[in-house]
Amino acid sequence: MCGIVGYMGKQQAFPILIKGLQRLEYRGYDSAGVALVNENGDLNVYKTKGKVSDLENFCADKDITGTVGIAHTRWATHGEPSKRNAHPHYSQSKNIALIHNGIIENYLTIKKFLISKGYTFQSETDTEVLCQLIEYMMQEHNLTLYDAVYQALKQVTGAYSIGVIERNNPNTIITSKMSSPLVIGVGREEFLLGSDASAIIEFTKNVIYPKDGQVIRIERGKEIEICCLEDREQKIKPEIQQIQLSLEDIEKGGFDHFMLKEIFEQPKSLSLCMNGRLQREKKEIILNGIQEYGDVFAKARRIIISACGTSWHAGLIGKYLFEALCRIPVEVEVASEFRYRNPVIYPDDVFIAISQSGETADTLAAMELAKKQGAFIYGICNVVGSSVARLTDSGTYTHAGPEIGVASTKAFTTQVCVLVMMALSLAKQLKTIKDEDYHRIVTELCNIEAKIEKIFEKKDEIKEMSKIFTYARNFLYLGRGYNYPVAMEGALKLKEISYIHAEGYPAAEMKHGPIALIDEEMPIVVVAPHYHLYNKILSNVQEVKARKGRIIAIVTEGDTEIKKQTDYYIEIPKTEECLSPILSVIPLQLLSYYIAVAKGRDVDKPRNLAKSVTVE
Ligand code: F6R
Repeated sequence: MCGIVGYMGKQQAFPILIKGLQRLEYRGYDSAGVALVNENGDLNVYKTKGKVSDLENFCADKDITGTVGIAHTRWATHGEPSKRNAHPHYSQSKNIALIHNGIIENYLTIKKFLISKGYTFQSETDTEVLCQLIEYMMQEHNLTLYDAVYQALKQVTGAYSIGVIERNNPNTIITSKMSSPLVIGVGREEFLLGSDASAIIEFTKNVIYPKDGQVIRIERGKEIEICCLEDREQKIKPEIQQIQLSLEDIEKGGFDHFMLKEIFEQPKSLSLCMNGRLQREKKEIILNGIQEYGDVFAKARRIIISACGTSWHAGLIGKYLFEALCRIPVEVEVASEFRYRNPVIYPDDVFIAISQSGETADTLAAMELAKKQGAFIYGICNVVGSSVARLTDSGTYTHAGPEIGVASTKAFTTQVCVLVMMALSLAKQLKTIKDEDYHRIVTELCNIEAKIEKIFEKKDEIKEMSKIFTYARNFLYLGRGYNYPVAMEGALKLKEISYIHAEGYPAAEMKHGPIALIDEEMPIVVVAPHYHLYNKILSNVQEVKARKGRIIAIVTEGDTEIKKQTDYYIEIPKTEECLSPILSVIPLQLLSYYIAVAKGRDVDKPRNLAKSVTVE
């Protein structure tokens, strides 16, 4: 789970590589490095522990010339974050440098073999093993770099996207991928590599998305050459596509952090998500996946939803939606548990995977398992063309736009929005919803963006409130029904960016244990909009109050009862209960953001985290 960048062209590579790395820092930022071939043919590798800015400072007095180079920002898997474990890795003779995103699973076996051939290793990484293996292939079998990479990759198992360059050869980059993302940019007399399009978009919009098992030679002044690991003779013609993203889409646009930008983008991302699907005039939802495969859902024994983290929380809301509106039983599974617990899967199950990045390893493995056992696979995913998207039988993109902040915000609300649209359109097909209920909810969905804008008017109030709570070491978040998963999501947001411990709990379950934690120091966020369990949650609020907990309540505009009981409250507009998570999560996102900022945290790059978790 790292970011890779490469450049070959007429310009100096270093500043382009640094810019690309900065855009990929969401994928990892514990160390970074760059390798460049200068005009004398020297292969210079510079690495540092820390962020890309540290690498830039470190290189200030180094020879950073060269029009070809590769660079890497790391999130440690094998070996601690350190300079020696950072990429690029040199081969033994220092003739080759390699960057890698992924995991070489059989690296220990290969390492043993190479040690028996006299190789020594500078790092604890799996990546260095691949680099040395390439050199071994070149020396032992007298191969070119391209052929050596090909032969080395035949020996490895695991996941990778790689970039390789060599001393005395400023005209070639070799790259390949297997289950890790890779895009190649094709500019005017220049080529770029990136883990995703954001790394290269500033330089070209013409890209190639290589497929798994393709090995690619990029050579100055020549056509890109692609061959397949499965069959060396099979030559693939590069297929150039246009990136749809704009640079503005991926920059901060005046906000202090990507997370804040993405919170405020939610009305727009929800509009994009509903565009062409929610027919606002007719008050209808037309969702292709459900139009086409409604009968598969209709015949389903049950729906299994699987995901990780925030996407799992969205999935939990999906359970409430599909069961209430469509009367289909739903199970929601954390993907990492599902994949290893030998679950019972029937061929008439519908399996829904939810993932922002579309690259989460556990979610992909859970999908593969369900697919193997014959379930129908539906994907809800943000990144177009991602691995999740490719594995599905059908699905719906969230179209939230690029999410760069490590803490997921707009991905969550758009995932819930897709689940709402799916459940409503399915319920209509199955006739499990009355026409008037359908139209009332759809009408409310048309107003959802404007209602989020109303919550944004409270941002200063929330910011002030956040300052009061920076002292806290623990938070409890409570909710019921549709807002129980929102409580969990609020807790996750707080812990990941502020490092304050927080737990999300079903409000009524509190008295079975967590109530023991409550004292006058303890902030308790109660997500309590006015719906059918209002009186129940009011009792839960009173229970907290009786133990002197400091309550922050999320209430519906015009609420009187809960407000009377609470020290602090944030009002949100009234909407349909099944849509309420899309509104109630917004103040929780803002609260955690402002608390983290007040505590001086690095909001967009919280410690130990990375945006896409492509390792298990
Ligand atoms: C939390 C967060 C993570 C992700 C999780 C799944 O803010 O971002 O919990 O939700 O890693 O990622 P995706 O949705 O890309 O599969």
